[in-house]
Amino acid sequence: MLVLALLPLLPFLALAFPTQQQPFSSTPEESMNNKINPLKHLSAISPFYIPTEKPTSLPPKCELDRVSLLIRHSSIQGNDDEFEQTMKPFIDKIRNIPKENLPKEGPWKFLRDWDTPIKEETLEVVSPQGKKDAKFLGKYIRDQYEPLFPPKKKTSTKKDKNKTPYKVWTASSTRDIDTAKSYIKGGFPSHQSGNDGEGDGEVVQLVKVPNKAKDWDRSLTPHKACDTFEKESSLEPANKWLGVYAPKVIERLRGIIPEIADQLVDQDILAMQMLCGYESIAVGHSPFCHLFTDEEWLDVEYYFDVRFHYMMGYGSSLSPYLGMPWAKTAKHLLAGKDTDGDDNGGHTPNQDDEGTLGIFKKGGKLPEPKLPPNATHTQLLHPSFTHRESPAFVAVFLNLFNSSSHAHPAFEVPPLDHRVDDRAWRTSHLVSFLGHVALERFHCKGDKEEYVRAVVNGRAEKMSGCEDGKEGSCKWKTFDKWVDERAQRWGDWESVCEK
Ligand SMILES: *[C@@H]1O[C@H](CO)[C@@H](O)[C@H](O)[C@H]1NC(C)=O
Ligand SMILES: *[C@@H]1O[C@H](CO)[C@@H](O)[C@H](O)[C@H]1NC(C)=O
Repeated sequence: MLVLALLPLLPFLALAFPTQQQPFSSTPEESMNNKINPLKHLSAISPFYIPTEKPTSLPPKCELDRVSLLIRHSSIQGNDDEFEQTMKPFIDKIRNIPKENLPKEGPWKFLRDWDTPIKEETLEVVSPQGKKDAKFLGKYIRDQYEPLFPPKKKTSTKKDKNKTPYKVWTASSTRDIDTAKSYIKGGFPSHQSGNDGEGDGEVVQLVKVPNKAKDWDRSLTPHKACDTFEKESSLEPANKWLGVYAPKVIERLRGIIPEIADQLVDQDILAMQMLCGYESIAVGHSPFCHLFTDEEWLDVEYYFDVRFHYMMGYGSSLSPYLGMPWAKTAKHLLAGKDTDGDDNGGHTPNQDDEGTLGIFKKGGKLPEPKLPPNATHTQLLHPSFTHRESPAFVAVFLNLFNSSSHAHPAFEVPPLDHRVDDRAWRTSHLVSFLGHVALERFHCKGDKEEYVRAVVNGRAEKMSGCEDGKEGSCKWKTFDKWVDERAQRWGDWESVCEK
């Protein structure tokens, strides 16, 4: 039934990405005849897409009870580090080549008049298309989980008005907040979404979780709370692989644009492939998307998979520690009992609830949470918006993509001299913009057992070691113990995070 409800939405997905149907067919004699769409192979630079046509449906006769959802923010117009380290040096290099030395014809001719839309001023800013995508995600999530949302109809009775609002939580960076607002506008009727997606404060309330909020930082932005987490060392293995594939690209380009190819370094190849993603996000298209072969796109995808294996995947011993807080919080929320609208279960009774109208109206500022994520919340669906690292850490804590039956499970060290194509660790499927991990608790007719399953971007994924449920899911009882055991194993945060 859920699947049927989703069908009318699918064309929208194609609309959101017109290039998806027939990638780059405008200039056939100039194109690389790509069979793949590079935008689906750029890992954390890939705009939102659902890797499967429709989400994996629940087993027959089963129904959702509760869902926890962790979502990366939507498409931004460039990342600070990638701009500084990689794209800017390339952009400057091209600017400094006299126009008469740039190609006069062929697919590279555009460089003569090229002015990239990727600018220092708009780095980290969600693009208009990124907002549309987040709005789409709101509709899409609503269609999947409709029974878990508050009703759409306008409330009028006093009793209803005193109810605790349904909350959407977001990390405090502007890109997270912008994404969450668009999501709310897509998922709720306008009388509930507030003017700008901040929620009406009665039925829906967006809550901003400061990166430094003690109770929260470990579940939403754990890497910002862990002093030993760093991103630099993962560049070394990734650049080693870049040093294998990029020289081959430069060699190919010597036959096409010898004047430029001579001046290119490995980082410039990466820069152009990144620009394909970010320029498409900023203005809907990029000439750089037409200049590389399928193999070269798969090579850059592998570059990111290598990097993120070490930065936030199975290759970092920190990952399960940093994935633990959200997974534990999610288990707590999934286990929740309805408390009849009282959100303050067990907490200081004179605390104002974070969703009260008063706080919300003052200056239009988003309220901060008054309750930690593991307090008792009454709602059935718990969405949180955050950064790329979190879904990856959670994937490791939940042991996703790591089945020993897979030819290349995700914990396997990626070779740096060749690409492994049938690897389980594919970050394009996990940390693309709006990439999300859901934990879904469900029950089935004629069956006393309760179950939970992990779903990544619409696709059910096995939690290896917790798979005794229906269709690759896990029995709730087993999950409950399994998460506690793993939380114990990777619970000593202080010993690994303090410098
Ligand atoms: C909530 O998390 C805090 C640590 O952040 C912990 O001290 C507390 O026991 C947790 N409460 C519940 C109900 O799990
Ligand atoms: C991944 O799988 C390997 C092999 O089964 C196992 O040794 C390792 O502990 C798993 N990783 C995590 C984080 O559970």
